[in-house]
Amino acid sequence: MGTISLINNETNEKFDFNIINCTRGPKAVDFSKLFETAGIFSYDPGYGSTAGCESTISYIDGKKGELLYKGHKVEELVAKYKFTDVCKLLINEELPKDEKESKEFDLELRHRSFLHEGLINLFSAFPDGAHPMATLSSGVSVLSTLYFDHKDMEDEDDYQTMARRIIAKIPTMVAFCYRNSVGAPFIYPDIQRSYVENFLYMLRAYPHGKLKQTIKGTEEITSLEIEALDKIFTLHADHGQNASTTTVRNVASTGVHPYAAIAAGISALWGPAHGGANEKVLKQLNEIGDVKNVDKFIDRAKDKNDPFRLMGFGHRVYKNYDPRAKVLKNLKDELDKKGIRMDHHLSEIAQKVEEVALSDEYFIERNLYPNVDFYSGIILTALKIPTQLFTPIFVIGRMPGWCAQLLEHIKNPHARITRPRQVYLGK
Ligand code: ACO
Repeated sequence: MGTISLINNETNEKFDFNIINCTRGPKAVDFSKLFETAGIFSYDPGYGSTAGCESTISYIDGKKGELLYKGHKVEELVAKYKFTDVCKLLINEELPKDEKESKEFDLELRHRSFLHEGLINLFSAFPDGAHPMATLSSGVSVLSTLYFDHKDMEDEDDYQTMARRIIAKIPTMVAFCYRNSVGAPFIYPDIQRSYVENFLYMLRAYPHGKLKQTIKGTEEITSLEIEALDKIFTLHADHGQNASTTTVRNVASTGVHPYAAIAAGISALWGPAHGGANEKVLKQLNEIGDVKNVDKFIDRAKDKNDPFRLMGFGHRVYKNYDPRAKVLKNLKDELDKKGIRMDHHLSEIAQKVEEVALSDEYFIERNLYPNVDFYSGIILTALKIPTQLFTPIFVIGRMPGWCAQLLEHIKNPHARITRPRQVYLGK
C-alpha cells in the first residue's frame, strides 16, 4: 500500500496517509485520521474530490463515458435484460439465472404492488395540482408507519422484504400521485400485468380498469411501449454517489427507518440540478420553440450574468458523452422508426441544441455533454407520460439502486454517522 505525505509549511511537520487502491478508477487517500493526526480538516465543498464511502454497486468512468452496474455495462443490461432482472442484480448481487427465476421475481413484485388502503386515503388529502414528487416523498415516508417492522437491515430476509416491497409499490404510488394531482380516480394494480405494463395501465385506465376505446377498438398497451419504458428504468437504476443517493446514505447513517431515508432521497432528486432536470429540459425545448432560436439560447447559457443554464447538459462526473444519453438518443430514433412517433419538432430542436453546443468553445472547454435527462423527456412524451411524471419515473428506476446503497452503507463496518466538519468564518 502506498502513502502520500502532507507537509505543513508553517510548522514543517510531515504526515503520511495511506493510499487506497480501487478495483477501477483513481486511487484515494485515506484522510479519515487527518484531523486526529494533523489537527486540520480537508475542505471540499460539493465533495468533488471526496470519496464518502466504499462501494461495489455501480462504477462510472467519466472520461470514457462508461457506466457499470455490478461490473455489467449498462448498454448490455438495457439490451439483454428486463428492468426487474436489473433490480434483482442490484439488491441480490446476481442477475436471475434463468427465465423461471426472472418470472418468479416479477410475480413477487406484482403481488406486492398493492397499497395499504390507509395510504390511499392519505393521497386524497393532498390538493389537486400537488406536484407528484412532493406527494411521493410524503407517501414513502408514510410507508415507514405501515411497515414499521423493517428495523434490522443486517438481517437478509428483512432487507429483501423491505427492498422488494418498495420496488413493487413505487409504480403504484407514482400512478396514484399522478391521478391524485389531476383529480382522477385511482386504478388498482392488475395482477395479470407485468411490472412495467402494470404501471402504464395504472396511469391510463379508466374506472373499472377499461382502456381507452377508439373507433378501431381498445387502445392496448403495446409491447414496444413496455420495452421502451423498461429500458428507461434500467438506465436510471444506479449511478454512484450522486446527490440523492448520498442523501439516502446520510439519512440512513443516523439509524432511521429505511423508507424515511428513501423519502429524503426522493426530495433530493426533485431539484432541477439533479433528477428534476428531465422536466425542465422539455420546458426549455418548448421555450426555445424553433431551431432558429437555438443560438440565442446557447448565448444565454454562456453568459455569466444570466442564471440560465442549458438543462440536460453537464455532469459532475462525465467529462464525455453520458452513455445513458447515447442509449436514449438511439432509442428515440429507433422507436420513431418502429411506430412510436416522437415529436419531430422538439426532436429537431434538441438535435440542433446538441450540435451547436458540442461545437462551441464554451461547452468544449468545460466538457459539457448531454446527460441522461436531455433525451428522456422526448421519449416519455411519446409514451404519453405527462411531464410532471418524468422525475417520479426516475424514482421508479432508481429505487433498486437506493435500496442497495442503503444496505451497503449500513453493513460497512467503517461507516459512521455522516458528520462533516466546517470552515468556520463567522464571529
Ligand atoms: N449550461 C451552461 N453552463 C454550464 C452548464 C450548463 N448546463 N453546466 C455547467 N456549466 C458551466 C458552469 O457555469 C461552470 O462554468 P465556469 O467554470 O465558467 O464557472 C462549469 O460549466 C462547471 O460547472 P459546475 O456547475 O461547476 O459543475 P457541477 O459539477 O457543480 O454541476 C450540474 C453539474 C449540476 C449537472 C451542472 O452541469 C448543471 O447545472 N447542469 C444543468 C442541470 C442538469 O442537466 N442536471 C442533471 C444532471 S444529471 C442528473 O443529476 C440526473
